[in-house]
Amino acid sequence: MRKLWFKWVALGAPVLIAAGCATYPDQAATRQIAEKMVSEGFNASPVHAKRLVQDRSQQICSKIAGAQLTQDEAAEVVRLARGSIKYPASGKLVGDWKRGDQLAHNGAGDRILRGKLEKRKENGALCQNCHALAPGEINVGNVGPSLTGYGLQRGNSEAIAKLTYERIYNAWAYTPCSNMPRLGATGHLTPEQITHMVAYLLNPASPINKK
Ligand code: HEC
Repeated sequence: MRKLWFKWVALGAPVLIAAGCATYPDQAATRQIAEKMVSEGFNASPVHAKRLVQDRSQQICSKIAGAQLTQDEAAEVVRLARGSIKYPASGKLVGDWKRGDQLAHNGAGDRILRGKLEKRKENGALCQNCHALAPGEINVGNVGPSLTGYGLQRGNSEAIAKLTYERIYNAWAYTPCSNMPRLGATGHLTPEQITHMVAYLLNPASPINKK
């Protein structure tokens, strides 16, 4: 009797496993279910809810978790990022470093507080969360490279100002799918605010360039 029971399990298990696998949702269906769960659970801000739908670049960046992008995919992310960059109406890429210094350390704006979107006149930039800034500042992150001495190392030519502006506006124009937020392209910072960030990084008088 006991032996028969074992036989049934031995024969039946592979059949059950195969049937189980066949009904498992595929990658596209799993994604759809996951996205539905997230969007239904997020009701604090209709404006921000739009961001739950991935744009084309995000789809490419998260297409195959952890795998290398193909040359064509990387080129498409760069092309889309370049196309997103808008310059300030004034044409001046270098603003006020003191404003930039404040914004770099200010994490306010675009936050959901007690289930509601906070309302502010302008968003902070919180570069401090991810980058080392002025020498001696200890309350800084290390997700991104250190920006200490950024202007000292690169000078403050027009070409460097343009490169820096573009990297802050949409970092994916240079490093596709990096962890640097696309601060201008997502509308988190305005072009004018980004000019202040450029000044903060490049101006020799800025604390970031003090020895
Ligand atoms: C969520 C983390 C994060 C935040 C916030 C962030 N960055 Fe970055 N940043 C990164 C990462 C990661 C990189 C490296 C990859 C890249 O270049 O895209 C980077 C790269 C950079 C670079 C290029 C550095 C180089 O050596 O050429 C600059 C300039 C920069 N960030 C400036 C800023 C400024 C200014 C802010 C605030 C307005 C900021 N970042 C906010 C993560 C962040």
